Amino acid sequence: MGLQRWVLREQPELPPGSSPQGERDWGEGEGGSANIPALPDVTTLDWDALQQRVAQCQHCGELATTRTQTVFGVGNHQAEWMLIGEAPGGEEDQQGEPFVGPAGQLLNAMLAAVGLQRQQVYIANVLKCRPPNNRDPHVDEVAACLPYLHRQIALIQPKIILLVGRVAAQQMLGSDANLGKLRGQVHHYHDRIPMVVTYHPAYLLRKPSEKRKSWDDLCLARAQLDPS
Ligand code: URA
Repeated sequence: MGLQRWVLREQPELPPGSSPQGERDWGEGEGGSANIPALPDVTTLDWDALQQRVAQCQHCGELATTRTQTVFGVGNHQAEWMLIGEAPGGEEDQQGEPFVGPAGQLLNAMLAAVGLQRQQVYIANVLKCRPPNNRDPHVDEVAACLPYLHRQIALIQPKIILLVGRVAAQQMLGSDANLGKLRGQVHHYHDRIPMVVTYHPAYLLRKPSEKRKSWDDLCLARAQLDPS
């Protein structure tokens, strides 16, 4: 087990200013408001019904027309670990699965470093659709989409939630503090499920010097399951 194992050796050449495989960088702003009404209740849906509801979702008109497909989430429905990212990027939009681009490969390596296979955990995003051109999501797109994620959490009942990146952290913690302030401590979902914040792997690809802190975050998360 070691930090070296996190290194993604083959990184694509990127034109200046672009992000790997269409992965967003999540600047500080979250974009404008699209004025989207609340979703119909999803709190009683089972996995199949929820997945179907997401696949057919037209709620955020723009996202529904620009996406290739929705990206529901992937993994073990009985997972102890649930990872929550931000939104699908280009590759995820094409494949219909979260974290399959270079950031996803790094995420897999990070999981492996704490002894986890990707198939053991459940991975989802705050937003189920790719924002066009990887723009930041609008505030009400996030608000409209969050009930799907809350239902996923309720169905899984994970023992630990890892919030991956600033947007997931801020949305799930209801905070506008920066990521540096939110990581390094244990938060709780509904006063019950521990949540730990870590850097987004797309950020770590650009700033490998921060991997050490991310390793600390994973250890903090793991310690919530095995406090010995
Ligand atoms: N970044 C995310 O936050 N989620 C993905 O699924 C892919 C990239």
